[in-house]
Amino acid sequence: MCVMRIVVLVGLTGSGKSAWLERMGVGGLSSDTIRGLLADDETDQTIHQRVFETLRYLLRQRLAIGRETTHIDATNLTPAERAPYIGIGKSYGCEVEAVFFDAPLEVCRERNARRQRVVPEEALAKMALKLKPPEVGEGFARVTVVAG
Ligand SMILES: Nc1ncnc2c1ncn2[C@@H]1O[C@H](COP(=O)(O)OP(=O)(O)OP(=O)(O)O)[C@@H](O)[C@H]1O
Ligand SMILES: [Mg+2]
Repeated sequence: MCVMRIVVLVGLTGSGKSAWLERMGVGGLSSDTIRGLLADDETDQTIHQRVFETLRYLLRQRLAIGRETTHIDATNLTPAERAPYIGIGKSYGCEVEAVFFDAPLEVCRERNARRQRVVPEEALAKMALKLKPPEVGEGFARVTVVAG
């Protein structure tokens, strides 16, 4: 009987993923935090592969010591980006679910502009084109939608 679970957050930058975790008072494995730990720069986009290798390593370590819930705090925009968590979930026999932050691009744009760490406008537009909302068919036990 499995008690562990992986919660994959999905949403554009500024869609409210980190704010939601903060409201719930839980920490997640954040790709930006890991960027900061590795490169002393939370915005360094040149170490993408290393960042996600590290994130998956930390996730496996958490599962190995039986942590009940792990949130993956990254944009996770496509099925290909989300698939590794479904695979890890299977190998540890735990449930994987998705939470989709369905905030309109305009809202994300406004929040992004008002923030300390501003993501370039073109990068946000590219993300919006890439975004494929998560579906149960990918292997998620459930998909929850949070309106933005
Ligand atoms: N529901 C909300 N209502 C109003 N403001 C919000 C809401 N959710 C988030 N914000 C604000 O919008 C900004 C961006 O939110 P947040 O940092 O949670 O986005 P994110 O999805 O984690 O983005 P990123 O992928 O870049 O980390 C923050 O300043 C946050 O306080
Ligand atoms: Mg965030």
